[in-house]
Amino acid sequence: MTTTARPQSATPRPSFDLPAYLAASTAAVNRALDRFLPSETTKPATIHKAMRYSLFAGGKRLRPALCLAAAEACGGRITPALPLACAVECIHTYSLIHDDLPAMDNDDYRRGKPTNHKVFGEGIAVLAGDALLTQAFEIAAQAQGWPRYPHRALVLEVAKAAGSLQLIAGQVADLEGEGKRISAEELRYIHERKTSALLCCSVRLGGMSANGTPAQLKALTAFGYHVGLAFQIIDDILDVTQTSEQLGKTAGKDAKAQKATYPSIVGLEKSRAIAQRLTAKAFAALKPFRGKAVALEALAQFLLVREK
Ligand code: IPE
Ligand code: IPE
Ligand code: MG
Ligand code: MG
Ligand code: MG
Repeated sequence: MTTTARPQSATPRPSFDLPAYLAASTAAVNRALDRFLPSETTKPATIHKAMRYSLFAGGKRLRPALCLAAAEACGGRITPALPLACAVECIHTYSLIHDDLPAMDNDDYRRGKPTNHKVFGEGIAVLAGDALLTQAFEIAAQAQGWPRYPHRALVLEVAKAAGSLQLIAGQVADLEGEGKRISAEELRYIHERKTSALLCCSVRLGGMSANGTPAQLKALTAFGYHVGLAFQIIDDILDVTQTSEQLGKTAGKDAKAQKATYPSIVGLEKSRAIAQRLTAKAFAALKPFRGKAVALEALAQFLLVREK
């Protein structure tokens, strides 16, 4: 996907080095995840191998990066945000393992490798997903609480985003929408829940880890919501325009599975325009940070023009 122009409302500092930022945040998150998870040889070794197989398969680590960037935008440091960034990545990886199962999207290829169930079998893949979801709460419970955001608030935030009213609700509606002609409004409902909820949660948790003000949290919520919607539209577009090799997951699967997607409902060009508009809204939401949310700006821009 190369034709998307930069939204007009704001532009990230040209000097901001996003590749370096992403490399550093990914390295910090990977080190922390490695510390939080039982080693591959811990009994029962099969489950810990399976958990680590998908977790360290080479995901883009965008949700953790958003979490850390949100903490910095609120004047915080990354150390208190790291457990929350790791918790979100565990939930995301669990959701992908289950999303790929034959009972769901039936995918053989993920993060450039055979899917978890292809390597470990369906039973272990289900359990590896369950274990990563549980691990997320174990990690979140170790995060530092703040006066504004005690432990309870942090754990509640994770539970709500991952639960049956958000991520799971979106996955249910996604499955039930297969083969049906659904409206743009219903598709928006799916995207809000299956994808935007966890992205929004990622930035909110970052803000909470920095004891962000209510106004900062409100801004991050609007930013995360719009970036999350744009993110799934771009995911749908890339499924049409990219090759499996570029994506590290099988391209063209949405049309085959008769998934409801933006490209299938409004076409590619309109989908791109909508993703651009949503990104512009995400940029606008960052106004209260008065130029201090450079990493968030750069990430939002990158998510729009990404090629995988
Ligand atoms: C893929 O997410 C699943 C969606 C919500 C669209 P990513 O594109 O962030 O996947 P990884 O983490 O890089 O593998
Ligand atoms: C996945 O959406 C959303 C979740 C896993 C919650 P998709 O099914 O579109 O993601 P990909 O394309 O398989 O990565
Ligand atoms: Mg799916
Ligand atoms: Mg899928
Ligand atoms: Mg997809």
